[in-house]
Amino acid sequence: MSIQIAPSILSADFVNLERELQAISTADLVHVDVMDHHFVPNLTLGEPIVKRICEVSPIPVDAHLMIEDPDRWAPEFAKAGAASVTFHMGAAHAPVRLARQLHDMGVKACFAVRPAEPVEPIFDILDEFDMILIMTVEPGFGGQKFLDNQMNKVRRLRDEITRRGLSTKIQVDGGVSPSTAHIVAAAGADVLVAGSAVYGAENPAEAIASIREEAEKAFRA
Ligand code: DX5
Ligand code: ZN
Repeated sequence: MSIQIAPSILSADFVNLERELQAISTADLVHVDVMDHHFVPNLTLGEPIVKRICEVSPIPVDAHLMIEDPDRWAPEFAKAGAASVTFHMGAAHAPVRLARQLHDMGVKACFAVRPAEPVEPIFDILDEFDMILIMTVEPGFGGQKFLDNQMNKVRRLRDEITRRGLSTKIQVDGGVSPSTAHIVAAAGADVLVAGSAVYGAENPAEAIASIREEAEKAFRA
């Protein structure tokens, strides 16, 4: 299984985004956290800024929408140029309809669950999504401690995907660093989001390489 690294710009310097995006060009995806002060107690950025990020980013953009009413707003982020759009189980009213709408726009659809939400309700609609995001912190802020109690959820999801021969990716977001990367990879995650571990490092490219290296060790054991 190949590992993808997705740095989160939540921990980047927001007034120097173009430079911050160039600094992570060795990663696979850039993870853009969109927060609305309602679904989560934090506020970040909206479609106009995401549009510019998509224009200048050297790698594809995954928009992680921590917002209410994604049924209404997610397509706007697809229009802004995101390669994939992630929306939350706790916010979407018609996730299948929304996933299909995103696919019709040529964009990948990802469904996210918070730590207290079970993954099993997604099993019956798993084939509608390109990726499932398992949050390993309560969404809202960067730099929180990794919740290793979410690893059983990742394992159950990986087993289901393998059993059915699906190609759905498993993304993990929150507290991922060189020291937790092997734990999430061993549990079955293949897309690792890391904010503070990348942008808090002296050299973001080295941090990306080190997270990748630690994650890949999980398959060499
Ligand atoms: C949290 C965000 C994460 C955040 C991760 O709500 O969804 O993407 O940036 O930050 P770290 O890697 O610092 O936990
Ligand atoms: Zn995120």
